[in-house]
Amino acid sequence: MSALDRVNNIGDLRMLARKRLPRMVFDYIDGGADDEVTLKDNPGRFADYKLLWKALVDISEIDLKTSVMGSACDAPIIVTPTAAQRLFSPRGGEAAVARAANRAGLIYGLSTLASTSIEDIATITDGPKWFQVYVWKDRALVEAALERARAAGFTGLILTVDVPVAGNRERDHVNAFTIPPKINAQTVSQVLARPGYLFDMLTTPTITPANYTDLDPQGDGIIQYLNRQFDRTVSWEDAKWMKEAWGGPFAIKGIARADDARRCVDIGADAVWISNHGGRQLDTAPATIDTLPDIAAAVGHQIEIILDGGIRRGTDIIKAIALGARAVAVGRPYLYGLGAAGEAGVSKALDFLISSLERDMALTGAIRLKDLTPDLVRRPAL
Ligand code: FNR
Ligand code: LAC
Repeated sequence: MSALDRVNNIGDLRMLARKRLPRMVFDYIDGGADDEVTLKDNPGRFADYKLLWKALVDISEIDLKTSVMGSACDAPIIVTPTAAQRLFSPRGGEAAVARAANRAGLIYGLSTLASTSIEDIATITDGPKWFQVYVWKDRALVEAALERARAAGFTGLILTVDVPVAGNRERDHVNAFTIPPKINAQTVSQVLARPGYLFDMLTTPTITPANYTDLDPQGDGIIQYLNRQFDRTVSWEDAKWMKEAWGGPFAIKGIARADDARRCVDIGADAVWISNHGGRQLDTAPATIDTLPDIAAAVGHQIEIILDGGIRRGTDIIKAIALGARAVAVGRPYLYGLGAAGEAGVSKALDFLISSLERDMALTGAIRLKDLTPDLVRRPAL
């Protein structure tokens, strides 16, 4: 029996990842900003929303298929972009995640800070894929990336807007963490404690931001690069510019307010992506599920809503969709899987989410995603 066979849920995968990864790498996935209030609230608040199932519904055929921003998928779960996936599995990385997403029939989001190039991902998966960007100071760099993504068959663009500067992740400071990780007096004991990881790290190419080859991997790391490259003057005008420069399906990721969601509609975005970056940016931001009802009321059916942050079970997905989301996105669930067991671990996480959604739909008395309506959820008083 492999360790994965004993995994029953995302929490089990997290424990396994903690055993397999050096402390600093695990903490980079697992941690959040400041006191980690939002990090805990994102998953925690789902429990305050109660499900009122419908009895005696014929649930013999459950259909999870949908489309998001025009991309068809087998379930309303998006594999959200996360930076430098080779960090979590030096041999697997983005390739492992993209393959597992394709097998599960889910949309794969490639981070702008990926450790595998746009073109390599395109050769690995013919499934639906979207590319994520920030607005860099150097607009030519952004335009070149959009052009490459389009040429490689990416059909959606995600502009992430909750990182005007890097968040204050104190676990990373304590661990002297950088991407790629540096082995020095402070980190050597953590890496030596995980010889399997160390071997993989030493026998695979250095982790670099594969889409921006001008970054010197010997420099001070990706997060610092991000802080230097981030254009602090970015505004809604730039978002509009980007939507036009891309010319295809366009999502704005990192929205918490109804008025900002309206602005997404105004500039012609195809999706508003409710997210607080998994509690890694502004701490004490509300849990994403708590912001969904107001945003859904403000935008109606004028734009699709995607929600991420703390999705760990099928019931969480049901609540988000019932309250107005078209789909959810997940980050840590598959990252724990990737750290725990590479591609097989990612598949474990995605299969778990899909099968628990299917079972929980049956228990709720809903056979299609459109049966998930607000009356199924009793909301807490806010
Ligand atoms: C992220 N996230 C993220 N988002 C983004 O737009 N670009 C990126 O490069 C990254 N990188 C990244 C790295 C790691 C390690 C994590 C955990 C997250 C945020 C991500 O897309 C998403 O918003 C959250 O992960 C959602 O919360 P959960 O599912 O992790 O709870
Ligand atoms: C993060 C950045 C890189 O959350 O998006 O770590």
